[in-house]
Amino acid sequence: MSLVIKNGTAFINGHFEKKDICIEDGIITNIGSNLKADEKINATDMLVLPGLIDPHVHLREPGQEYKEDFVTGGRAAIAGGFTTVIDMPNNLPPIVTKKRFEEKAKLAKKALCDVLLHFGGTDKNFDEVKKADPLSLKLYLAKTTGEMMLHNPDSLEHHYENFPSNRPIVLHACGDSSDPETNVKQSCEKTEHAISLANKMKRHIHLAHASTKSEVLIAQKCKTCTVEVAPHHLFLSVRDESRLGPFAKVYPPLRSEQKRIYLWQSLEMVDCIATDHAPHTTEDKENGAAGLPGLETSLSLMLTACDQGLLDKIWVVQRMSENIVDIFNLKKKGRLKKGYAGDITIVDPKREWEVCGSDLETKCKWSPFEGKKLKGKVHTVIRNGNPVYLEYCFI
Ligand code: NCD
Ligand code: ZN
Repeated sequence: MSLVIKNGTAFINGHFEKKDICIEDGIITNIGSNLKADEKINATDMLVLPGLIDPHVHLREPGQEYKEDFVTGGRAAIAGGFTTVIDMPNNLPPIVTKKRFEEKAKLAKKALCDVLLHFGGTDKNFDEVKKADPLSLKLYLAKTTGEMMLHNPDSLEHHYENFPSNRPIVLHACGDSSDPETNVKQSCEKTEHAISLANKMKRHIHLAHASTKSEVLIAQKCKTCTVEVAPHHLFLSVRDESRLGPFAKVYPPLRSEQKRIYLWQSLEMVDCIATDHAPHTTEDKENGAAGLPGLETSLSLMLTACDQGLLDKIWVVQRMSENIVDIFNLKKKGRLKKGYAGDITIVDPKREWEVCGSDLETKCKWSPFEGKKLKGKVHTVIRNGNPVYLEYCFI
């Protein structure tokens, strides 16, 4: 079956232009004018984007399916415009062996979006990393949900040497200020050390959820380091803590209003946006769990900022699609280009909506942005040439 997306404003080759896009057998086969196909989607007044990619999610399966699973997490991804996500290894038990990695990859097939997996590094699993041969390796330098932190100071260099140099090692940046053993200062020093070692060894590292301008600056000094920022650090600060209570708790923590503004000023140096979608039940949040859901609000938050003149749409789309492909070597994704995957997100940039947790697809059914009015919403999502979400509804 062939499908054409007609009359939309498409993001092609770094800019927006009015073009039709034709997909056949899951692949983009033609981009042009007056194209025809068996089926047609009318995208008049819409933005036509490459299917977005989120390099940092926690879909909780296996082990914590009561918080999220690949079905609900996959639906949340699609509703938020993401056709590919890369899932973190801090499952229960953690994904640190080839066997668990392969089992998880099988489970992930039931998701409505493509789910790729980060592999977790420990103080001892160097052989397992080699055997599993993942697209990226995640190292935790600071405490997080799940026990995955490296303890031996030699492990970092050992992993840097052991993992193929053309693939990124993702570093979990500065951690939790309330953790007595690893306060923010210490963990930021660890991050600085990890980045300077990478610079020396010319090893590609990717800094996860940088939350301050100083972290972005440290990352930028290293030629082989790329860096991501999460929307909650751009749109929330400690000012929101009194309103959100335990629902504001996240690693790294929300920063002061001043630091939030500085983070905006460092955006030119940021390579990509990652939601760090980390759903927890309301009960777990009330008991102190750290992490915020973000898949269904991130694109709209960014588009709302574009509408307000705070960000440029081109900047946003590049950081939610092609830059991620380049960092993680994801072949033939993230661009509207002949021969690339037929993964497409169609957005109505004028559609206004209000965040309501109970309407969300994520199993946790709450959002730190509850009640926020946003402008710009995902209208239709095509995965592999097949519409999976059409005019705001799942098919
Ligand atoms: C994440 C989680 O809940 O898995 N929590 C968070 O606060 N971001 C873990 C993580 O990304 O550190
Ligand atoms: Zn995370």
